[in-house]
Amino acid sequence: MGISYKHQIIVVGAGLAGLRAALEAKAAGLDVAVISRVQPVRSHSIAAQGGINAALGNAEGGRDDNWEKHTFDTVKGSDYLADQDAVEIMTKEAPGIVYEMEHWGCPFSRTAEGLIAQRPFGGAEFPRTCYASDITGHALLHTMYERSVKEEIKVYEEYLLLSIVKNADSCAGVIALNIKNGEIEAFEADAVIMATGGCGRIYNKSTNALINTGSGMAAVYLTAGVPLKDLEFVQFHPTSLYGTNILITEGARGEGGYLYNCKGERFVKELAPRDIVARSIQTEINEGRGYDNAYVLLDLRHLGKKKIIERLPGIRDICIHFAGIDPIDAPIPIQPGQHYSMGGIDTDAKGATSRPGLYAAGECACVSVHGGNRLGGNSLLDTIVFGKLSGRFASEYVKTKKKSGQGQALSLHLQEIKSKIHRLENSTGKEKPTDVRNQLKETLTENAGIFREKSKLQKGLAKVKELKERYKNIHIQNKNKKFNLDLVRNLELEGKLELAEVIVAGALNREESRGSHFRTDFPERNDEKWLKHTIASFVNGTVKIGYKPVTITQFKPQARTY
Ligand code: FUM
Repeated sequence: MGISYKHQIIVVGAGLAGLRAALEAKAAGLDVAVISRVQPVRSHSIAAQGGINAALGNAEGGRDDNWEKHTFDTVKGSDYLADQDAVEIMTKEAPGIVYEMEHWGCPFSRTAEGLIAQRPFGGAEFPRTCYASDITGHALLHTMYERSVKEEIKVYEEYLLLSIVKNADSCAGVIALNIKNGEIEAFEADAVIMATGGCGRIYNKSTNALINTGSGMAAVYLTAGVPLKDLEFVQFHPTSLYGTNILITEGARGEGGYLYNCKGERFVKELAPRDIVARSIQTEINEGRGYDNAYVLLDLRHLGKKKIIERLPGIRDICIHFAGIDPIDAPIPIQPGQHYSMGGIDTDAKGATSRPGLYAAGECACVSVHGGNRLGGNSLLDTIVFGKLSGRFASEYVKTKKKSGQGQALSLHLQEIKSKIHRLENSTGKEKPTDVRNQLKETLTENAGIFREKSKLQKGLAKVKELKERYKNIHIQNKNKKFNLDLVRNLELEGKLELAEVIVAGALNREESRGSHFRTDFPERNDEKWLKHTIASFVNGTVKIGYKPVTITQFKPQARTY
């Protein structure tokens, strides 16, 4: 049947969630391997800057912090769409997770007494965000990777996930493209854990890496019969560098940075949650109070050279190299940029999907702990907490599962995928993939961005459907087997188109404003009608939208003021 590998658990994705899941499965005594699109430390977790939240109570002014307060801030930040039982799990686990990473060697910044340092972040009542200068994701991912090397976790690098293989009502493994040699290969497994990150590259102004195409979300949605949840909730980070949209950490405002419009006014509380700050900045720009109708300024000069060099050296480097300015001497031109998907593969708090044996964690998953708007610093936390839990519960599942007929299911599916790729490679269609890809990004940014309304969403949906049709006539020029990125991008494009349809259809249906989803034609939150999760399933080649309830434990929805 061609090349195939067999492990008890396959983790797809080698960022923080994936590696943490693999470590947990290994500790449970299972044969686990990781498939990754890139070398593990090139995973997008590396790009996280500002920090990871945990109620440690280390900071001056934050001694009274505790997990309940972290829970409340997260739920309020989510605009009450988060499942509160899942948030409680995350916030209770948080201190243990941070100390574990410390003990594994993560070089966190320190207070004068030598404790893990914590900085203020948006929407948090206390300075709760533990950090390693402004390269926290880098420090955490390297620590996690070193641990995985020590534990001899097998990693298959440079693979693009193509499909989940179903076996009766469970999961038999995955099919992936070996990018290095162009082979389509099968991986048999008793359980699969998805940890493939977000889909930011559907938009054209994004802080995300080029690998964030949503391939994992799309594979699950299209091939596993598992729905996506709340995908219309797209986070726009308030401060991405004008021109390139590289992330300029919220930590810059946490350390005291100011936002200015072209009249020299500070127009928003800098540490309000991201949805609020991003809308305020976009409003300044739209109403002519930005610079060049495109950006506002983030000013750090008053923080002084010492603090900038000590706490924000990474963004200083980015500004020098990508914008030619030094924030010690000049303000930074910034604009909002797509940053994060609150929605994703529908899972419970164990990381389990509706398909037995298929789990998901990190940004590709929606547990849901972020609801309508994620607080900065909660995503690194989410990756490690739910990576660990999905590894634990997938291992328990594997130990009790009865196995039969997996190899046969894999063989059949492998042939189907090979035929599909063969057709794509030999298509004589006339559509240029770059046209479809660029028009998709423009459509999403224009019609399903920070501000949304019915007619634009309708226009966006019609365009996405048109692009889906045009994709059928796509032509791939590059016929090479080795590192054929033309083929990789076109395979990813199919998934992007389907995810775009889910985002726009969900946003069109949701006639209210909640968190990051702001409808100018329905500017209020409407709990009576819309306090529910969107559930999107792939049926007969298109999206079918349903809903399910939100879990409320302690905090009844109230007006969200800051
Ligand atoms: O602004 C930042 O440093 C990003 C943090 C996050 O997305 O959690």
